[in-house]
Amino acid sequence: MNLKNLISTYENGIATVTINRPKVLNALNKDTLLEIKEVFTKLGTDDKVKVIILTGSGEKAFVAGADIAFMQSLSAIEGFEFAKLGQEAFMTIEGCPKPVIAAINGFALGGGNEIAMACDLRIAAETARFGQPEINLGIIPGFAGTQRLTRLVGKTKAKEIIYTGAMIEAQEAHRIGLVNKVVPLVDLMDEALKMAELIASKGAVSLKLAKSAIDTGVEIDFHSGSLHEAQLFGLCFSTEDQKEGMSAFLEKRKAKFKNK
Ligand code: HXC
Repeated sequence: MNLKNLISTYENGIATVTINRPKVLNALNKDTLLEIKEVFTKLGTDDKVKVIILTGSGEKAFVAGADIAFMQSLSAIEGFEFAKLGQEAFMTIEGCPKPVIAAINGFALGGGNEIAMACDLRIAAETARFGQPEINLGIIPGFAGTQRLTRLVGKTKAKEIIYTGAMIEAQEAHRIGLVNKVVPLVDLMDEALKMAELIASKGAVSLKLAKSAIDTGVEIDFHSGSLHEAQLFGLCFSTEDQKEGMSAFLEKRKAKFKNK
């Protein structure tokens, strides 16, 4: 892949994708969104990749939003298409069968908060700042922020964040359930790797099914979601990992999953 705006590296089952436009605080333009879509599609089908970490380049920003210079002169139809492109790119992250951890190393604003919310887990540096400041630009969130933020923190808090456009600190983001964990900036990548390694030690099939059960379930009614869960639970019994996991427990040893 010939990447201009992203850096993608791989080690021991863990891929790290870095959004790399530090001069504009990693702001997302059309090309970057296209690359995100391409990279996550590829990583999703690469059997050696078990977990993906997404971060931003530099110490100041994770992603400071969609690129305002790029958006400034868009027509209504181009604005719609840009929003749809970002939504598709973020759906590729959310729909990726591997767990994705956002390591949030600074500002996560607008599209930056929206891309973080499309990840499965979020670890924030103490210095990270979150917000949906679109209202200050005379627009609204367009990469599904009104939908994901509401689902993550509830309607009341989502409206406060979106209507005021104010930034919140990492600890507050943790308090309202927007991020899983807050750590010192110097420890951020180690903490993300530690979590990625722990998750990568589990079976890839059950991870994929758990992700589907949660993400599909939350969008449908409780009974349909529970039925989907039961079907996926049943499917686990067709895997070698289920046999290994249960045998290992009964034989009092650590499971060695084969990811099949
Ligand atoms: C384009 C951006 C940018 C952005 C920062 N820059 N954010 N360029 N798009 N979203 C550029 C600045 O213009 C500047 O370029 C350089 O990055 C450094 O930024 P500064 O503003 O000088 O840094 P600082 O004073 O530290 O302020 C940091 C900041 C501020 C608080 C994060 O940059 C900021 O408010 N950025 C915009 C945040 C925002 O509104 N995001 C939402 C965008 S709308 P120069 O050339 O001057 O060095 C959005 C919609 C999503 O995301 C949905 C679309 C469909």
